[in-house]
Amino acid sequence: MPENPYLKYISFGSKNAIILIGFLYNKRMTSTPKTLFYAPLLLRLDALLAPERDAVANMANLAAVLYQALPDINWAGFYVLKNGVLVLGPFQGKPACVRIALGKGVCGTAAAQQKTLRVPDVHAFAGHIACDAASNSEIVVPVLHQGRVWGVLDIDSPVLNRFDETDQNFLKQAVEKFIQHSDLR
Ligand code: SME
Repeated sequence: MPENPYLKYISFGSKNAIILIGFLYNKRMTSTPKTLFYAPLLLRLDALLAPERDAVANMANLAAVLYQALPDINWAGFYVLKNGVLVLGPFQGKPACVRIALGKGVCGTAAAQQKTLRVPDVHAFAGHIACDAASNSEIVVPVLHQGRVWGVLDIDSPVLNRFDETDQNFLKQAVEKFIQHSDLR
């Protein structure tokens, strides 16, 4: 049987294990390996982001943690909306295109529609902007502040159909933590 890529990332401190059991019980969640992987990761992210209010610092650390922790991804980072254009922010991965107009590419479309876009095959997405030829699937989560798009979190994967609903839920919660703990202006 192939090794489950999530299992090697699960390490429990006893405190986290107790919090996790309570969390799973409250949510009546099925304890799939992926949810077991994401629950403590979200706790780690909260602890990492909470002491700092600077948005650039928190984007940098969030991108780094996601890039290090998530299996099968080749890019993780932010674009920030400045004067109506998405401008490259802190990221991990290969150098990327710097400016993306609203409505363009996966990032610009997610920002314009103010909704998360999960793209199972980027080559089938009209207008996809290829920053790294290795990317095959992508998820973009908008960062919303005071009802407006402040930026987007973008994750790319070399694996087709890499992101499912569980990944989407976790990334939305990670973005919520970033919004909660950062000064956005
Ligand atoms: N693929 C994105 C562009 C950003 S890079 O993937 C880092 C898009 O189509 O908007």
